[in-house]
Amino acid sequence: MSENKVKITVKGKTIELPIRSGTIGPDVTEISTLYKKTGIFTYDPGFISTASCESRTTYIDGDKGILLYRGYPINEVAENGDFLEVCYLLLHGELPTQVQKKDFDYRVQHHHMVHEQFSRFFHVFRRDSHPMAVMIACLGAMSAFYHDSIDITNPHQRMLASLRLIAKMPTLAAMSYKYSIGQPFVYPLNSLGYAENFLHMCFSIPCVEYKVNPILARAMDKIFILHADHEQNASTSTVRLAGSSGANPFACIAAGIACLWGPAHGGANEACLKMFEQIGSVKRIPEFIARAKDKDDSFRLMGFGHRIYKNYDPRAYIMQQTCHEVLNELGIKDDPLLDIAIELEQIALHDKYFIEKKLYPNIDFYSGIILKALGFPTSMFTVIFALARSVGWVAQWKEMVEDPAQKIGRPRQLYTGEVKRTYVSIKKRK
Ligand code: SDX
Repeated sequence: MSENKVKITVKGKTIELPIRSGTIGPDVTEISTLYKKTGIFTYDPGFISTASCESRTTYIDGDKGILLYRGYPINEVAENGDFLEVCYLLLHGELPTQVQKKDFDYRVQHHHMVHEQFSRFFHVFRRDSHPMAVMIACLGAMSAFYHDSIDITNPHQRMLASLRLIAKMPTLAAMSYKYSIGQPFVYPLNSLGYAENFLHMCFSIPCVEYKVNPILARAMDKIFILHADHEQNASTSTVRLAGSSGANPFACIAAGIACLWGPAHGGANEACLKMFEQIGSVKRIPEFIARAKDKDDSFRLMGFGHRIYKNYDPRAYIMQQTCHEVLNELGIKDDPLLDIAIELEQIALHDKYFIEKKLYPNIDFYSGIILKALGFPTSMFTVIFALARSVGWVAQWKEMVEDPAQKIGRPRQLYTGEVKRTYVSIKKRK
């Protein structure tokens, strides 16, 4: 490999491919001319070594356990800012001034309500529908309600769609929760902060005055910040691919929610808490560690491992601290699930298998314990992940739409099926 080129020889012919450097992180070699010049494709299922795009939004150094939102370390942002400030940062690329923050908060607050027809829309679902299924439908339906923010070529409409998504996701998420427990929907209150409003819409009932505990609201806001964006993960890549065809932003976010639902991705927080409940006691941890290491057993330790982090997920640290804050505030002294989580983490972090494979707790390991303590059922855990991740999805979608070099995403394949053969009429088939 010369200074800034990669040399590839295919069937005796050698070509050179340019190498590009980012501001930080691994270089890339541009391979878009490879097929034209050599007649071969690259092959990288799961995109282990493939950069799908150029982005300035979020940076991850998996070996060092670093996560930067527009260059700001996640711990500094989570400790000092709030979720709407992170939304502004991810969308605009800079931290807002006090005036910009006040204006942004006001604009989000005045988009919290959804069209009143949505309250009827929920009633087509069974009460026991998984709220993720309901949210996928709601986001698709948003393109049927908000026609004045689906023209992706119009910058004003792109920003309006972004604001509506950030503002209406908590309202729709709370409605999907209320619907599932047979309680009346609660309207947003513009006098409340973003996370406070979400807890109010989820847990207040018409019969009693409900005051949100500020410590719990702060914990909720921090959870939103930790989940806001994460480079080109599976659901963000889904949103980008859907958006590359020119689909409207609401349809793209619906696709992102569908992808996030999987237990290997955002569904891991729900799966993780169910795993703690399945383990049931600290005594049974060795049995499950053995299963996680057994090649013939499909069981995996939920909340552990990551495609990029080969070190502790920096979000898991903050999540663990937040977990203790919430349990202390709620006076939960000995949560058996937390005991299992802490013991499981200690055993796994000292086990050769996990050390060799560089498997550490990820963002989903502690989040479920906090969300359960806040009063959410496991079925709402990934909905809350989707609520927070919507700003990352829409920021990356906007970046892709506004990139003059973007084209429709259309990967190729290694074909290993039947070669050309002649059709046989069914009369002649035995
Ligand atoms: C998220 O991409 C993102 O950024 C995602 C996310 C985000 O913010 O968007 O961070 C959110 O999705 C976090 C991850 C949540 N998922 C889980 O907690 C589910 C459990 N984790 C695994 O399924 C797995 O670790 C993945 C899916 C997260 C990562 O899988 P990879 O990168 O494809 O790694 P791999 O499956 O190839 O595993 C490498 C090895 C394998 O062993 P070998 O085949 O090499 O012998 O490690 C083993 C795996 O068997 N392994 C595990 C394991 N995770 C990986 N073994 C036991 N338990 C685990 N959890």
